[in-house]
Amino acid sequence: MPKTKKVGILTSGGDAPGMNAAIRASVRGAIHFGYDVIGINRGYAGLLDEDFTPMNSLMVKDIMGKGGTILKTSRSDYFPTEAGLNKATDILNTFGIDSLIVIGGDGSLTGALELHRRGIDIVGMPGTIDNDFGASDYTIGFDTAVTTAIDAIMKIRDTTFSHNRINIVQVMGRTCGDIALYTGFSCGADAIIIPEKENNLEEMCETILRGRDKHALASIIVLAEGCGSYRDYLQEVQELTGVTTKGTNLGYIQRGGSPTHFDRNLASYMGFKAAEALHKGNTKTVIVQRNGKYLAVPIEEALATKKEFNQEMFDTMNILAR
Ligand code: F6P
Repeated sequence: MPKTKKVGILTSGGDAPGMNAAIRASVRGAIHFGYDVIGINRGYAGLLDEDFTPMNSLMVKDIMGKGGTILKTSRSDYFPTEAGLNKATDILNTFGIDSLIVIGGDGSLTGALELHRRGIDIVGMPGTIDNDFGASDYTIGFDTAVTTAIDAIMKIRDTTFSHNRINIVQVMGRTCGDIALYTGFSCGADAIIIPEKENNLEEMCETILRGRDKHALASIIVLAEGCGSYRDYLQEVQELTGVTTKGTNLGYIQRGGSPTHFDRNLASYMGFKAAEALHKGNTKTVIVQRNGKYLAVPIEEALATKKEFNQEMFDTMNILAR
């Protein structure tokens, strides 16, 4: 069958600042290459509900700096089932949408790969604040989340200093500690607790105490949520250090707000490159950034790429913390 040149665009999974810049760039890029563009609302759940909005260039005007995603997003349990995938494919075929641009994390891109196996052309982009996509140096939203977390911790640091306390600040990141690592590095944290490393609380507290004297008594520990809640640590840290220990969960503020210039650039390039890849027939791919270059890599390869831990940043942070 000849291709329809009708492309659907959706955002899926947890939202991330910069998704709107990616939508703007994909919509305008696709129009530039002669496509009709259909916005699919609420991710795969909206696809299954045929929740579609035809999009034009004006509809994505002035969205670059907005947080969230104008297309909305969701996590669907039904979509990744055999029945869900087949239903989604039938709907796309019925509407003559034979290609999709998907912005989301690895779960969303795994779903996209399944649709490709059912005949839909796919180009993806990694959009998640967690930066847990091994094939790309950065994911859309990560830089903004880290910037937000740093801003919050600098405020927490003020009061922690005034009271000579320890504050354990919980950030997002279930399997990947990058938000904790990059935030901790950039705000001079005393320690971080992340899923990639074995965490010995006793050693950590001893090191924190060694780094304290009567003039420097305030300490910040950044905790990735994948290692538990800050509440799990409060009592033990207080007992091991003898220092009043408080905690803060930064929560969903990390997912909101206007994207940084880095995320706007990343998302805009990725969005345009996704439309270009589609136009060139370079589908079943994900657009990634490596060493400042944008590449379309096969989805399977991208999903299988192990995330490399930034050991150098971890070691440097620990040296500079004392
Ligand atoms: O999108 C990633 C993420 O922000 C994780 O860091 C976090 O654990 C999760 O989403 C929260 O998801 P939800 O919005 O479903 O609570």
